[in-house]
Amino acid sequence: MITNRFQDKVALVTGGNSGIGRATAIAFAREGAKVVIAARRENLGNKVVDEIKSEGGEAVFIKTDVLQPHDVENLIQTIISHYGRLDCAFNNAGVSAPMKRLLNTTIEEWDLMVNTNLKGVWLCMKYELLEMIKHGGGVIVNNSSMAGLGSAEGISIYSASKHGVMGLTRAAALENARKNIRINAVCPGFIHTPMLEEPWAYNTKIKDSTLSMVPMKRFGKPEEIAGAVLWMCSDEASFMTGKEMVISGGQTV
Ligand SMILES: NC(=O)c1ccc[n+]([C@@H]2O[C@H](COP(=O)([O-])OP(=O)(O)OC[C@H]3O[C@@H](n4cnc5c(N)ncnc54)[C@H](OP(=O)(O)O)[C@@H]3O)[C@@H](O)[C@H]2O)c1
Repeated sequence: MITNRFQDKVALVTGGNSGIGRATAIAFAREGAKVVIAARRENLGNKVVDEIKSEGGEAVFIKTDVLQPHDVENLIQTIISHYGRLDCAFNNAGVSAPMKRLLNTTIEEWDLMVNTNLKGVWLCMKYELLEMIKHGGGVIVNNSSMAGLGSAEGISIYSASKHGVMGLTRAAALENARKNIRINAVCPGFIHTPMLEEPWAYNTKIKDSTLSMVPMKRFGKPEEIAGAVLWMCSDEASFMTGKEMVISGGQTV
């Protein structure tokens, strides 16, 4: 069912050119939002914009590296000068790395994963919140992970970065609870995206062993996360803040 829950709303999706972000950008547009897609790869971003426009929706791509404070500040300022408001933000841009034990991880891996997944979300929230406070409200959803609630062998840095996202979400939700701003997180299990597929290329056994961990015996679809993000951004979730929604096909139960 397609509704107009986001008619006249402006929705930002970081990492909106691929995977979960792409599905969420398309879902927002189908429900009437003006969508801003922020990521680094322009060709992929413009493709999603074209897809949205071909369905009669509205979207723009703003090239942004969430590792760069100036890019994030410019992203939010451009949204405000273009649309005059920011109603919803899905802070989704993130990276993972091949699984390895903590002892074998490197400073470069720490810097990339923590700076993208955690500092990137913090930077986005900082500039989003400034505008939402000025405009009297808004909704933020951060993309954490089931690895942001529990953990597993071989994912120490990724898991630490995603636990950090939960801390940011909870503290910022409390700080803004009386400002008409709600902040929640989505915690996906294994979702079929380019990020999940990456390790399958060098080890085909990983796909089967990953799948065997999911009680539903299938990977999630990006659209199944998008639906949850839209619900958390909608008025139907008006009493939810500082919490997470776990969507994992029964994993972690
Ligand atoms: N797939 C899963 O199983 C799963 C499970 C739990 C959580 N997640 C989380 O879901 C989010 C989306 O991942 P995905 O699975 O959809 O993978 P994906 O298709 O690889 O998407 C990752 C997105 O992040 C963007 N990105 C990465 N670094 C960036 C940077 N420095 N600046 C701006 N954008 C950046 C990428 O765009 P550019 O490279 O063009 O910048 C891309 O759009 C991530 O935060 C991931 O940790 C995924």
